Amino acid sequence: MRRIAVMTSGGDAPGMNAAVRAVVRRAVAFGVEVIGIRRGFYGLLREEFEPLGTESVHDIIHRGGTILLTARCAEFLAPQGQAAGLASLRGRGIEGLVCVGGDGSLRGCAALESLGLPVVGIPGTIDNDLAGTEATIGFDTALNTAVDAVDRVRDTATAHERTFVVEVMGRHSGFLALAAGLACGAETILVPEIPWNVDVVCRGLRRGLERGLRQNIVIVAEGAARAVDLGAQIEQATGLETRVTILGHVQRGGSPTAVDRNLASQLGAAAVEFLMEGHHGLMAAVQGNVQVGVPLRSVTASRRHLDPSLHELARILSA
Ligand code: F6P
Repeated sequence: MRRIAVMTSGGDAPGMNAAVRAVVRRAVAFGVEVIGIRRGFYGLLREEFEPLGTESVHDIIHRGGTILLTARCAEFLAPQGQAAGLASLRGRGIEGLVCVGGDGSLRGCAALESLGLPVVGIPGTIDNDLAGTEATIGFDTALNTAVDAVDRVRDTATAHERTFVVEVMGRHSGFLALAAGLACGAETILVPEIPWNVDVVCRGLRRGLERGLRQNIVIVAEGAARAVDLGAQIEQATGLETRVTILGHVQRGGSPTAVDRNLASQLGAAAVEFLMEGHHGLMAAVQGNVQVGVPLRSVTASRRHLDPSLHELARILSA
């Protein structure tokens, strides 16, 4: 393989830059040329290519966002889009692709692989919801951002004896909500994967109130409920003075933690090594602290399962 491409795709995640840097520098060490594709699959369809060398990725390991820019691309879901993407890559003499992204991006990778292009995906999403890997790039940073924010909210909640509903990201998954809630000792954690009901939530808060607890943190994944609605329901049902904080895209930005930088560096290098060894149709993943290649098909065919026992533990510990 003499020329490969790298792109970032879907929602950005802190550490994507560190992954791009690792891909470029590992490839250069193999004597392989690297082409960056700007704006993910959207940019691929518009042939937004730029050559990347050692210097292009200087001074980015610590930066959030992605120097390659990113996008979500509905056109690439269709077979015509995928065929056009393949033609653009072939037209540039690109023999392999590394793509950093989440679930939707890895589906795009699997589509190109099935058309005959060697592809390796790298898990990059703050949601940490991909099957086959114990960690995704960006999760640790987003988690630390959320924990820092909730700790601050806790201070003012305590000072005013208020209940706060804090909404964290996670349209389809509650890994971020659960990990942040456990780390912050949240009184209640609501995630899309575990059924809940507002009466039970309010009953729990009322029980706390009977013990004199007027300040509470309720963490809700955006896919479980709208914090604004939930806050109003809680205030009405319990009489607790309630405020709402939506952390939103703050969780997607910022300098990646050392954990994310190192994960990205290792997975970026592993992805190139897989391609060079002739292994593709894979996601470079981490299992038991070791980098492994997991078939893209198996990653996209299932979802990572949230551990309900961790949710139960958080409930017991916050009582
Ligand atoms: O998949 C990452 C994620 O941040 C989700 O947690 C969130 O629901 C979604 O992206 C938001 O996407 P967008 O920035 O496109 O609105």
